[in-house]
Amino acid sequence: MLLLGNSNMLADPGAVSVIIGEGTDRRDYLIVRYKGEISVFENSCPHQGTPLETLAGKFFNRDQTQLLCSTHGAEFRVKDGVCTIGPCKGKKLKAAPFRLEGAALYLN
Ligand code: FES
Repeated sequence: MLLLGNSNMLADPGAVSVIIGEGTDRRDYLIVRYKGEISVFENSCPHQGTPLETLAGKFFNRDQTQLLCSTHGAEFRVKDGVCTIGPCKGKKLKAAPFRLEGAALYLN
């Protein structure tokens, strides 16, 4: 069990990337708060495997309703990570198992 962060630090809607490890053990996780719910995904677009953000901290589309991959404009539903618009339509962000203990967010 690994502490990812304090979920109270996120705005709603809000998202942050947390990088853990180095080299071949490096993992990039995307922590999201949307309509009061917390989600955690691997920060890797199913289209080409790049991180979603090309500008630091920019993870939402213009109207703040879906996650955005800035590389080619794919958009993803927050609740399940399914791509609804863009080159990977129908594919999903990979969810990461987590649990909350109060505001503390742990990766399982
Ligand atoms: S890499 Fe994300 S849309 Fe192409």
